[in-house]
Amino acid sequence: MVERDKWGSQLGFLLAAIGSAIGLGNIWRFSYIAYENGGGAFLVPYFVALITAGLPLMILEYGLGHKKHGSSALSFAKIGRKHEWLGWWMPVFVMFGIMFYYSVIIGWCVNYAIYSVNLKWGANTESFFMQQYLGLSEGVGVLGSIRPNILAATAFIWVTMWLICYRQIAHGIERACKVFMPLLFILTLILIIWGCTLEGAAEGLRWYLKPDWSKIANWKVWVAAYGQIFFTLSLGFGIMITYASYLPRRSDLVKNAVITSITNCLYSFLAGFAVFSVLGYMAQQKGVAIDQVVKSGPALAFVVYPEAISRLPFLNNLFGFIFFVTLVIAGLSSGISIIEAMSSSLIDKFNINRGKTVSALCLSGFLGSLLFTTQGGLYLLDILDHFLNQYGLVLAGLLECIIVGWILKARVLRRHINAVSKWRINKLWDFSVKLLTPVILSVIIGLSLWKEFVEPYEGYDMKYILLVGVGWIMFTLVLAVIVSVYPWEPEKLGYEHKPEEDRLIV
Ligand code: ALA
Repeated sequence: MVERDKWGSQLGFLLAAIGSAIGLGNIWRFSYIAYENGGGAFLVPYFVALITAGLPLMILEYGLGHKKHGSSALSFAKIGRKHEWLGWWMPVFVMFGIMFYYSVIIGWCVNYAIYSVNLKWGANTESFFMQQYLGLSEGVGVLGSIRPNILAATAFIWVTMWLICYRQIAHGIERACKVFMPLLFILTLILIIWGCTLEGAAEGLRWYLKPDWSKIANWKVWVAAYGQIFFTLSLGFGIMITYASYLPRRSDLVKNAVITSITNCLYSFLAGFAVFSVLGYMAQQKGVAIDQVVKSGPALAFVVYPEAISRLPFLNNLFGFIFFVTLVIAGLSSGISIIEAMSSSLIDKFNINRGKTVSALCLSGFLGSLLFTTQGGLYLLDILDHFLNQYGLVLAGLLECIIVGWILKARVLRRHINAVSKWRINKLWDFSVKLLTPVILSVIIGLSLWKEFVEPYEGYDMKYILLVGVGWIMFTLVLAVIVSVYPWEPEKLGYEHKPEEDRLIV
């Protein structure tokens, strides 16, 4: 039997999994997407996406990692060597794609937490962010130079993640998440309560939650809901497979999957209260409607929010500091899970020790993220984020469903999951994994592709879209195939958790 790292406790595992799921995306992405796609009515497609794709895939990833007792590469290799490439592709495009810019955004939050102390962004927060801070170049083709402040903060983030991931899972990630997660919940609660007591907050919340039912007839809203569910639950990253592989035999996989998913989605929903209450306050101060102050994506956190913070009646430095520190913590607990998914696959296959693997990964991650610390970094980030989320994650989820549902067989995995879990799943899950989820995800990918041809993403030149978006996906795919061809030590593929061993324990 191959010795694997183990979680110190079930709670430690849950906190780490929730920590992976709750990230930067929950705080500014969810609230904005919800607002733009029908407000309260968006909760309907979001909930449908959770039930028809999020939850079935979360159970699948937990079940697979647990049954196969391996990282994502090892788990897929155990299903069949010719499927191993998928087990590599997920952590590879996330680690050498999403993580390159994700770490830089956490770096921005570090800088902004420091800037909050004296409200350094001044009165014109947009020009501060775009010109003074990012020094934004004139277009995607111009990288310009590296921004020293961003570089320093990004380096700090990589060193912090390295210090956490370097140690064995129970002493590194688990211990960190036991501190991070309660802290994150407390800080978020402070922001929500503080925000909701501000003048104009009710109007902000009304805009956030006001249902616009006409919107949900639009397919774009559904594509947005599915895209958000994948990103927010860290599905298609290879993370949840890896995390579940460190669980002991007696683990209620279904219950853990439900708790992880619900906690994450509830957190997003509540974080929206912190965001929109403050926007409501700012709109009232400026005497304009909310739609005049809301902006999408990073601009929401780094342009709109700083302005709102500056306008707060008292202790605005403290509020700003808490807000950006909350983002840093949410980002870090997701970042370390991405590193873990990649390092675990490498350790499983190449037997290199954890310290060396994590060091090499963090160093290469840092070097890759340098690209995004440049003046043209924001454009690259924008294109890459769109393609890796919209296609990488959703495609990975679709392929997982096909390989597990049809090749490993959904009922085989279901039997294992039910043998170890107190909460049971039935044939509906098989139906979902084999048919429902793959059909929905195929439609989502088809619609997104069609949209891509009709109107190039954000009007970028097609050559950059192909080079950065499509090129990156192809590059990581080739890398994954190459690593997967390398042979395994035969005993590595042998051991897995057998359901019979667990049947008596429940
Ligand atoms: N699930 C993480 C987030 O939402 C990656 O940021």
